[in-house]
Amino acid sequence: MGVFRYYIILLVAAIISMQWVDLSIFTTIPFQKYNDVPQNSQNYPRVNCSKTCPRKFHAKSNPTTSLETCPDYFRWIHEDLSPWKKTGITKEMVEKGKDHAHIRVIIVNGTVYLEKFDRPAFQTRDVVTLWGILQLLRLYPGQLPDVDLMIECGDVPKFLKKEYDKENGVPPVFHYCGDSLSYDIVFPDWSYWGWPELKIKPWKLLNKDLEEANNEIKWESREPYAYWKGNTRLGRRPELVKCNLSEEHDWNARIYAIDWVKERRDEGFKNSDLRNQCTHRYKIYVEGNAWSVSEKYILACDSVTLIIEPRFYDFFTRNLVPTVHYWPINEKQTCSSIKFAVDWGNKHPEKAKKIGEQGSNFIQKQVQMKYVDEEEVQITITSGESFNYSSLQHAQSLRSSSSSRLS
Ligand SMILES: *[C@@H]1O[C@H](CO)[C@@H](O)[C@H](O)[C@H]1NC(C)=O
Ligand SMILES: *[C@@H]1O[C@H](CO)[C@@H](O)[C@H](O)[C@H]1NC(C)=O
Ligand SMILES: *[C@@H]1O[C@H](CO)[C@@H](O)[C@H](O)[C@H]1NC(C)=O
Ligand SMILES: *[C@@H]1O[C@H](CO)[C@@H](O)[C@H](O)[C@H]1NC(C)=O
Repeated sequence: MGVFRYYIILLVAAIISMQWVDLSIFTTIPFQKYNDVPQNSQNYPRVNCSKTCPRKFHAKSNPTTSLETCPDYFRWIHEDLSPWKKTGITKEMVEKGKDHAHIRVIIVNGTVYLEKFDRPAFQTRDVVTLWGILQLLRLYPGQLPDVDLMIECGDVPKFLKKEYDKENGVPPVFHYCGDSLSYDIVFPDWSYWGWPELKIKPWKLLNKDLEEANNEIKWESREPYAYWKGNTRLGRRPELVKCNLSEEHDWNARIYAIDWVKERRDEGFKNSDLRNQCTHRYKIYVEGNAWSVSEKYILACDSVTLIIEPRFYDFFTRNLVPTVHYWPINEKQTCSSIKFAVDWGNKHPEKAKKIGEQGSNFIQKQVQMKYVDEEEVQITITSGESFNYSSLQHAQSLRSSSSSRLS
């Protein structure tokens, strides 16, 4: 770590290119309609692709003169794109991405074209992901290169190394997480722009809320136990539930289930408000089917994060350092490992508190929304350098074949 540094040439160029950005969207298959999106909220992206997407945004310039250093995790961009470094990205490779991708986003000369495959994404992940990309075009006018991005919106990485060999060309597909067994290219998940179905605000707003929540209860005054709350049914979580307080044992773990269907229908999200979840000195992070968007919320709490050995990574988690930003929990002995960590922390409150603060600090400083945007821009620019074809033709054919022109 610390070897590579990338400098942002900040938006000086934006001043020069004060131009309209063309954001017309074309699609071949209209987005499904979702009825369970909470209403009355100004905070969520409103992309109604059955209607009109704004054809032009005002080019918003945000001139900053200082030279900033990008967070260290930006170096993984090169690592994740390394399979295509020698070969470049050909059209054939990209087409192979159709095996699992949900959407294909083509940017040509600042115009976005969308192809939606006949494979529904969960909830509105695809819409919100697209919304994030549209925001970038607005924030970085004239700076995104021409790219042809296949995006997979599911949970687990799908482009397994054992199924796609390098000789025959690996499909470059963007996904929210990766692991050692797959080629998926990691980029920020939709939740940074909000998760409307669960009423989780965009990160830009939520991390301010969490900062306030942190000030409400000092670390010393928090419950001296390890807390976890969420959907208990996914992946490795049923194992964690076994560590909950019971008549027989107390592993220092306090585990609560959220029934999202009930939250949405009856409870008005009052049990799931993340602002009320900075109440314990320790917070557990456990993966679901794959990485979990909850990791940033858990780390942002100033509590010591106990991370159960993760198998997946997202764009920033590979830079988290055990005993600096979090405390690692042995997956094979989850309960006793949690009990040990909590007992240790309660005996060494100063040291424990420091780990909590460092974890929080990492999230609040290094994973600020401006860096998340920048990460997505950098990965787009870096991948853009590898394409050996112009996707203009495909974009044009989408335009002419499109029955529902959306611009
Ligand atoms: C989206 O636009 C269509 C067409 O104008 C409209 O019928 C529909 O109600 C809109 N949906 C939402 C969620 O606003
Ligand atoms: C790209 O967009 C700019 C600004 O709208 C326009 O002047 C230019 O001709 C376009 N280039 C191509 C290749 O379409
Ligand atoms: C864990 O135990 C507490 C206290 O007994 C209980 O309120 C809670 O519902 C339990 N959690 C789960 C997921 O069963
Ligand atoms: C891109 O690479 C492919 C495969 O190597 C090759 O067939 C094609 O001609 C290349 N295209 C360009 C524009 O260089």
